[in-house]
Amino acid sequence: MVKFMILKVSKSSVLSGDVYISGSKNAAMPCICAALLTKQKVILKNVPDIIDVNNLLTIIKKQGVRVKKKDDIVIIQAKRLKTRVLSDLVETLRGSYYLMGSILSRKNKLKIKYPGGCNIGSRPIDYHLKAFQELGFNVIEEENKIVIREMTRTSKDVTFPKISLGATINVLLLSSTFLKEVKITNPSLEPEVLCLIDMLKKMGVSIDILDKQIIIKGARKLKGVSHSIIYDRIEAGSYIYLVGAIQKSKVFIHNAPIEHLQTVIMVARKMGIIVYKKDNILVVEGNKGIKKINLLIGEYPFFPTDLQQIITVVLTKAKSSSTIEDPIFPNRILHLKELKKMNAFIYEQNQVIHIKPCILSPGIIYATDLRCAFALIVAGAITSGTTYIKNIDYLFRGYEEPIKKLRHIGVNVEIL
Ligand code: EPU
Repeated sequence: MVKFMILKVSKSSVLSGDVYISGSKNAAMPCICAALLTKQKVILKNVPDIIDVNNLLTIIKKQGVRVKKKDDIVIIQAKRLKTRVLSDLVETLRGSYYLMGSILSRKNKLKIKYPGGCNIGSRPIDYHLKAFQELGFNVIEEENKIVIREMTRTSKDVTFPKISLGATINVLLLSSTFLKEVKITNPSLEPEVLCLIDMLKKMGVSIDILDKQIIIKGARKLKGVSHSIIYDRIEAGSYIYLVGAIQKSKVFIHNAPIEHLQTVIMVARKMGIIVYKKDNILVVEGNKGIKKINLLIGEYPFFPTDLQQIITVVLTKAKSSSTIEDPIFPNRILHLKELKKMNAFIYEQNQVIHIKPCILSPGIIYATDLRCAFALIVAGAITSGTTYIKNIDYLFRGYEEPIKKLRHIGVNVEIL
């Protein structure tokens, strides 16, 4: 990705008005790849217009798949499906690894470039590759490519040592055409996985969810389907904490998937942010002061790792020290260096982030990944003066129309 855009953010006094949440990035990408499991037409609704999704659609077009996009609707028909996925775009996004599960499910071989993704610490794909092997595929890792070939499809129990969203989705995609039962033990049951399961069931796959287990019984031919992507809980959470950080603000968040935001709302309330539901709209108000918290991040339904950087910024406003521990991505800490440039009193020790009360000063800082980009906007919006964020391009990978939405509620942002 070429990184050259700079965002100017000035202190934003009171935020007000409405923000409309878009479809979920992390649900859209697996569902787009699930559309490749059938030769029939698939209609996906509520697909966000973001760089990662658009790049994934470009990749599948190169695989011979027909793709039509209008507004938030994407129509996909994969009558043809080439098995060599060698576009450079594969290396630019994490979600491209779902092409492994879906292409192998329909075909018996695959050659794919290594998937990329945001710079948030080590992101191995060993669980994915081990699962493919256990299900009867031979995996060879070359310098920057992976070559996978079917030996004998073997239905069995795949057990993950740690909960993985991506690996759970890849096994779901691959097993969808297995005629005998595949079990996933210790799967991810995040709302994005459930959105995919919902789609696969409509396509003819039988899927049961038990306590800590998913049982999949696939079908030889999957049906076409019309499916709506769930709303993005991380985008909604990002706006909740942005608004909550600015006293006297009052913003109406529409389309927020409130049922998926229970912990995010609970933590916001503990921090003194006022959050309530009014006619299915989430109303967020910035209160007098932010309160400290000691937060342990975890897999859903616990507090999501994707909001760690944003909440870190908000906690600089608390009157006493806070801590955040993220065992999922403990090295997602590049934002700390940038916040220190703004005089934040913040450090990481033994994989715990310590945030001391401080008043941020404006500076020239760098976005290092998608969520870091939003976190730094929050930092700029609560800081007197003008902050310049370099590499803001990352923001557009996962937030739909961020500048328009931010300006609409009163955040002083301008792309230079
Ligand atoms: N893990 C392994 N080996 C694997 C896979 C995962 O050790 O083969 C470990 C990871 O290192 C991590 C944990 O398992 O410690 C969980 O990783 P997971 O596989 O769940 O993450 P992911 O699939 O790579 C997705 C999202 C991330 C989100 C995480 C956690 C996509 C494209 N990415 O990543 O989203 O943070 O799940 O919920 O869906 C973002 O949106 O900003 C983002 C980074």
